[in-house]
Amino acid sequence: MARSLPRSLMNFGLFSALLFLIIYLNGPDSKTKTFAWNEIRYKPSSATLPESRGICHGLSSSSKPALVVSRVAADGDPKWLDPLSKLSHFCVYTVDAPVQDYKYLQVPARRGHEAMAYLTFIIDNYDHIPSAGAVFVHGARFQWHNDEPQYDNVALLSRLNVSRALESSGYHNLRCDWSLSTCPSSVPPQGSFETSSQAQLVPWDDRAVSDAGLPKALAALFGAEDAIGVRPGPADAVRSQCCAQFVVSRESIMRHSREEYAALRQWLLEDKRGDLVLGRIMSYVWHILFIKQGKVRAGNEGIDLELLNKQACPSAAQCYCRLYGRCGLERCIASSCYGQYQLPQDLKLPKDWAETHG
Ligand SMILES: *[C@@H]1O[C@H](CO)[C@@H](O)[C@H](O)[C@H]1NC(C)=O
Repeated sequence: MARSLPRSLMNFGLFSALLFLIIYLNGPDSKTKTFAWNEIRYKPSSATLPESRGICHGLSSSSKPALVVSRVAADGDPKWLDPLSKLSHFCVYTVDAPVQDYKYLQVPARRGHEAMAYLTFIIDNYDHIPSAGAVFVHGARFQWHNDEPQYDNVALLSRLNVSRALESSGYHNLRCDWSLSTCPSSVPPQGSFETSSQAQLVPWDDRAVSDAGLPKALAALFGAEDAIGVRPGPADAVRSQCCAQFVVSRESIMRHSREEYAALRQWLLEDKRGDLVLGRIMSYVWHILFIKQGKVRAGNEGIDLELLNKQACPSAAQCYCRLYGRCGLERCIASSCYGQYQLPQDLKLPKDWAETHG
């Protein structure tokens, strides 16, 4: 009797420990997960900055938000922007311009799609970002990713209320509809087995390859390779909107130093992955850099992923109202509002779309 009591106590203790371990390993993740994504810590192998060819003149005296346009020569004449000149200060970058062509602003190299132009704008104009913020867009007027019934960025940008878009967190993607984003919970986490096996089985699937590459890329950008608290695990989905057109406040841009943006751009220049893949990886990085979370927890500067996901993916109805003043839309679900946006077939607009809708 004297000995059986301690033994049953011991058994009970062992049993509880085991039970706790099982619950801990399998249970839903109840604690908030934070990641040290507050600072770009990538160390470029080259210390010298590329020459500045992206200084946007008149910016420091502008009371209007900057409209940062990343265009390629094939986008044609950017005169489509003219109706927006009252609303914004244009900074137009041509990523494939010959160096002698001074008509438009330039970037160090054609890498990483629009990311190169966006980062070059920030780096070369860091001390003169307008207090009204900056809007970052692509160079063609009509594109499938413009969240407007006619895919028209003039219609979209003339309705955009920049100050209201920036009110909640200092950043907003221009898209409201969730198609092709990672917002729906049905999209598997980037680091999941499902995504990585798809990337290996179908290596030409840029979407799968860039998704699968995201955890490692985030580790490279925000900390040492495999550092704890930097690399998202197999169950950590980074939910974000599609397509890399967005609006940012000056305050959000200033949360990172010019050196951080320069290091990020060097990563784009030095990484060996394909252009499409890099561009897509960067489309997951912008909101991490710019969304303000406030004080998450005392003494913890990390980013709360669950909160970030919620901030990055407002419901379509909320987004259309906030950004474009299209409030009270009917027949909405979280991911879309009926009649607002539809993916065009094969993600391509008919060839004559610009002529017939201009
Ligand atoms: C933009 O939204 C703000 C509220 O945040 C409002 O005061 C302002 O009038 C709006 N601007 C336009 C042009 O609708």
